[in-house]
Amino acid sequence: MKTIAITTTPFADQKPGTSGLRKKTKVFMQENYLENFVQSTFDAIGGVKDKVLVLGGDGRYFNKQAIQTIVKMALASGASKLIIGQNGLLSTPAASNIIRTYNADGGIILSASHNPGGIENDFGIKFNGKNGGPASETITGAIFERTKIITEYLTSDIQDIDLDTIGTQQISAMQIEIINPVEDYCLLMQKLFDFNAIKALFENGFTIRFDAMHAVTGPYAKRILEDVLGAKEGSVINAVPSEDFGQGHPDPNPVWAKPLFDLMMSDKAPDFGAASDGDGDRNMILGRGIYVAPSDSLAVLAANAHLVPHYKNGISGVARSMPTSRAADRVAHKLGVSLYETPTGWKFFGNLLDDGRITICGEESAGTGSSHVREKDGLWAVLLWLNILAMRKQSVAEILNEHWLSFGRDYYSRYDFEAVPKEKAALFVERLKSKLGDLGGMPIGNTFIENATDFSYKDPVDGSESLSQGCVINFNNGARAVTRLSGTGTEGATIRLYLEQYADNLSDVKRDVQQVLTPIAEAFYQLTDFSSITGRTAPDVIT
Ligand code: G1P
Ligand code: ZN
Repeated sequence: MKTIAITTTPFADQKPGTSGLRKKTKVFMQENYLENFVQSTFDAIGGVKDKVLVLGGDGRYFNKQAIQTIVKMALASGASKLIIGQNGLLSTPAASNIIRTYNADGGIILSASHNPGGIENDFGIKFNGKNGGPASETITGAIFERTKIITEYLTSDIQDIDLDTIGTQQISAMQIEIINPVEDYCLLMQKLFDFNAIKALFENGFTIRFDAMHAVTGPYAKRILEDVLGAKEGSVINAVPSEDFGQGHPDPNPVWAKPLFDLMMSDKAPDFGAASDGDGDRNMILGRGIYVAPSDSLAVLAANAHLVPHYKNGISGVARSMPTSRAADRVAHKLGVSLYETPTGWKFFGNLLDDGRITICGEESAGTGSSHVREKDGLWAVLLWLNILAMRKQSVAEILNEHWLSFGRDYYSRYDFEAVPKEKAALFVERLKSKLGDLGGMPIGNTFIENATDFSYKDPVDGSESLSQGCVINFNNGARAVTRLSGTGTEGATIRLYLEQYADNLSDVKRDVQQVLTPIAEAFYQLTDFSSITGRTAPDVIT
């Protein structure tokens, strides 16, 4: 064991969020940088002596090197056991499952999620606790404080360990178990879903294209969809994780997964299309000729979960982040279960799941999940869709249309205004907040503003409060505009504008989304003096 002085104070400018710390890879590669975060994490959780930790990442550049560093540090700090995915790979939901299944004390996940990878791109690290979910604010706060004052870290003078061979290695008093990253996850999925029903679907000629985007879900999707469930070989594409995600942007949405999106809209489309992100927690769902917006996907999954073995007794409740459309609320209402509206970010679902208040949750940003782990789970969402398709014996389009016919449709879109100068974005928010109180009752075209609020949330489980989580403008014709600043953007500020319009006129459920939402966007721009304050007239990305 040796003690090394720390010369970098890496996080002075950024407290790690619940998705951890994300920076340029080269920043992470600075001397002592990663070590500072890891030692501070160990210190913040009361040390790792005699503890069992799970370790793995999405395979991006610097993943393996970071793992070797952490192994040496864990050994020096007296950890009793490390459980590591073979080749250093573990998808985020699989890591969550392994922490839970093996009763580990926590885990370290190496990923920058859907951000591009490579030496010129991004890297990230986060700590998940015993329940398999991202560390609480208290822990991340403690890590942050520790990084500012830490002066040294502990490490050991050992050779790099073998990450490629499955099995157990003993190094001094620490055991290292290299596990197949896929098997436990596959077993979990087998427990939740009716694999025979999905197999029969494929046997009967059902076709699928799953784009793993050169990221971590490749091996998971290949094993589960092709080997176990019998989807035709080649159904899973871009299935080998690469350090720079094939130079792509592993974010499963119509913009970054355009080839899949275009295929699904063409006459060569298979029955079902899906993609997931860098670390496997996000998903995109498509049917032949139809894109399922994440907010709709959450609602359809909640409405149909009872068709699937694990959820056959019904769900206890549903949660969605505030900017996610209210489609899920209508389902919860019909099922007679609670609906929780939380601030943006997965961490708010953790307490609700641990407390048994909800079974299914999701966000408009392509994250859907359930009580089976404490992270969102891309492949789980795909399998739940497949199981529902197998039971209902209908196409994605038929299911979505029927859903809209019975619940009405929440037209939905998100506009992102990126790299807005921080002062301008702050001024925009400040001005809007100052006038929210005066907006109620204001006439807009044929409608009027019902109310406008600054969203805050009180956690029903631990009572903690989160204030000012976004501005919400409700119109009396079922329209809503929500705006907030992104917490994950890296350049300047990203202003997000979430637009939705509810339509229960059944002849109206197939209109063009952007056409339906444009009047709300225009009203919003006008009400907030958007262009004059921010200097922007059109969004950079529409999803
Ligand atoms: C974004 C998404 C949010 C998600 C988060 C982490 O955060 O909007 O739903 O939980 O990434 O994946 P934002 O940049 O909006 O703060
Ligand atoms: Zn992710």
